[in-house]
Amino acid sequence: MAILDRHKILEKNATLLLVFSFLVVTIGGIVEIAPLFYLENTIEDVEGVRPYSPLELTGRDIYIREGCYVCHSQMIRPMRDEVERYGHYSLAAESMYDHPFQWGSKRTGPDLARVGGRYSDEWHVDHLTDPQSVVPESVMPKYGFLSQRLIEPKYTADLMSTHRIVGVPYTDEMIEAAAADFEAQADPDSDWEAMVERYPGAQVRNFDGQPGISEMDALIAYMQMLGTLVDFSTFTPDASR
Ligand code: HEC
Repeated sequence: MAILDRHKILEKNATLLLVFSFLVVTIGGIVEIAPLFYLENTIEDVEGVRPYSPLELTGRDIYIREGCYVCHSQMIRPMRDEVERYGHYSLAAESMYDHPFQWGSKRTGPDLARVGGRYSDEWHVDHLTDPQSVVPESVMPKYGFLSQRLIEPKYTADLMSTHRIVGVPYTDEMIEAAAADFEAQADPDSDWEAMVERYPGAQVRNFDGQPGISEMDALIAYMQMLGTLVDFSTFTPDASR
């Protein structure tokens, strides 16, 4: 019983017990956390995932400002009921350029991770303006004022530079073209080809159907691209991990 006797020393001496507990927790922590720093890649590379275009990024900021995440998650879990309702479960790569991520922990409304393309732009305008006109039992607030708020890409380049600091691979060229790309995406009559080259799959439309670029345009541009970047008809999970 010698070992138990020695354990008694530890149990009767609070300071010593604290020191040893600290040691144990430290070793456990290092074993769990340290490998993450050395793994080449904790997020599987997935074809199609790209940084947000200037207009989409602005829409995303409006989404965050208005607290849409309080009622909407953007993370489809790999469970059958979710996959059948919302589509393919979310991949880590799909939110790799989200700072902060929008996974969410509460669903008062449906998950929005794959809402892109599910409804028309007009539906979104009607729904955001007066949700109850489209879904009578909806408890979603009205956001019609977004149509009245015209926006200019004054700080868009700064916003993108800030995202670059935290790891989003915006190039100098993308940041220089931020204002032009912002305007081009909302104007189908503009020269938007270079913008689409920089942001493959970006949709070019007058999203709210009104003249001028409003917060409504930016928010709908963002909604309409959610979950559309990865082509799940060709996607196969990397079997090596
Ligand atoms: C108070 C909670 C709440 C807030 C805040 C909220 N929503 Fe909703 N949202 C709902 C509910 C409930 C529904 C389901 C009924 C409906 O379609 O209106 C919904 C539905 C939706 C849908 C349709 C989803 C689908 O798959 O049918 C979209 C898109 C949407 N919300 C976008 C937004 C955006 C964008 C914002 C922020 C500007 C927002 N919501 C803020 C509660 C909320």
